[in-house]
Amino acid sequence: VEADGTRVFDLRMQTGETEFTPGTKTPTWGFNGSHLGPTLRAAKGEKVRVKVANALPEASSVHWHGMHLPAAMDGGPHQMVPAGGSWAPEWTVEQPASTLWYHPHPHGATESHVQRGLAGLFLLDDPQSAALPLPKTYGVDDIPVIVQDVSFDGAKFDHGHKLMRNVGFLGDRTMVNGTLDPYVTVQDELVRLRLLNASTARVYTFGFDDGREFRQIASDGGLLEAPHTTDRLRLSPGERAEIVVRIRPGERTVLRSHPLDASLDFWNQRFGGGDDSFDVMQLRGAPTLRPSAELPQTLAASTLPTGEDSVRGRFFELKMSGINGRKMDMSRVDETVTRGTTETWTLRNNDGMPHNFHVHDVQFRVLDINGAAPPPPLRGPKDTVFIPSGTTVRIALRFEGPADPNTPYMYHCHLLYHEDEGMMGQFTVL
Ligand code: C2O
Ligand code: CU
Ligand code: CU
Repeated sequence: VEADGTRVFDLRMQTGETEFTPGTKTPTWGFNGSHLGPTLRAAKGEKVRVKVANALPEASSVHWHGMHLPAAMDGGPHQMVPAGGSWAPEWTVEQPASTLWYHPHPHGATESHVQRGLAGLFLLDDPQSAALPLPKTYGVDDIPVIVQDVSFDGAKFDHGHKLMRNVGFLGDRTMVNGTLDPYVTVQDELVRLRLLNASTARVYTFGFDDGREFRQIASDGGLLEAPHTTDRLRLSPGERAEIVVRIRPGERTVLRSHPLDASLDFWNQRFGGGDDSFDVMQLRGAPTLRPSAELPQTLAASTLPTGEDSVRGRFFELKMSGINGRKMDMSRVDETVTRGTTETWTLRNNDGMPHNFHVHDVQFRVLDINGAAPPPPLRGPKDTVFIPSGTTVRIALRFEGPADPNTPYMYHCHLLYHEDEGMMGQFTVL
């Protein structure tokens, strides 16, 4: 923290080697290390500055996924950091406690930069959530869970796309926080898992092997209004959720990913990863557990736009070949929105394959899915929403600004192969 109260972080993008299996070194990329990056953490109202240095052999960028900030600080494809160069964005945190993340965003190469290991969490705090009786000791009863699917080909990752697979890369096993076959020993009755799907294409349906229920307390951009009890949780690439699980002394339970139930057609279900299941992480209860406070009945009042004051609707037809029939063009601004207004966007996927939709700078409300009210997990703050084929999702977004006519934000499919192929557009706030 500097004299004026600015919280300063150093992030160095670098190459390295990581020993995922004993005795075998795999070439990887990371922030401040050989793989993944440190968890950054700041509080609402704080000013942050991140000093990014690029020690990679090629240009890249660092995007703050889920963060409300000025467009020039966003770290998208217009804020490239050349090899050997540096960049120091700064902004003030003006949003609720949440589990955000950061990753590169170089146009056309995001999939490969993320796959090599460039990703990390950015946690935000606020006084309201700090006052709630939630598990909150980082690494003890509040655990980051970055889930990625990988394939190993000897000492190297295999990042190849399989023939006739249109979602992009799918691995044949998963890692958590860069660890194969992970487990965590839990010392408290209740453990909070901050789940991030940092995979490039895979959609997970999380649940426990013994079918136990858990409570979801947060979505992408912060707390739900109340805990939601369930035994399944679906996250598509880029999405986050926080869940709280009860553990008994000495027991073991495995967080799994189950086959996807999203009415995919036979082809995408079979070849797009829908049939796959994985053991993601084992939780091991210590022989004796510290008692945890009961979860509160209510968590946070929603500040999301309702859409009632929407000044404008926009329509986005999602196809792998482009959004609204156009591929990403760095020099074309697709949409212009007005600062301080709310809009309603309709997102339609009739493409025969799964997509999702991510919007920079905002947390939006899902208004409806094929005309029906969203289920509880999708009623909280969202910046990324899964859209299976045959699905229309309406969202309400409020653009707070600041205005910047010269620097666009992105919206795109977060299946990174699709994004790289041009399934992305740009909007400016005026
Ligand atoms: Cu997480 Cu535009 O991306
Ligand atoms: Cu983003
Ligand atoms: Cu897509």
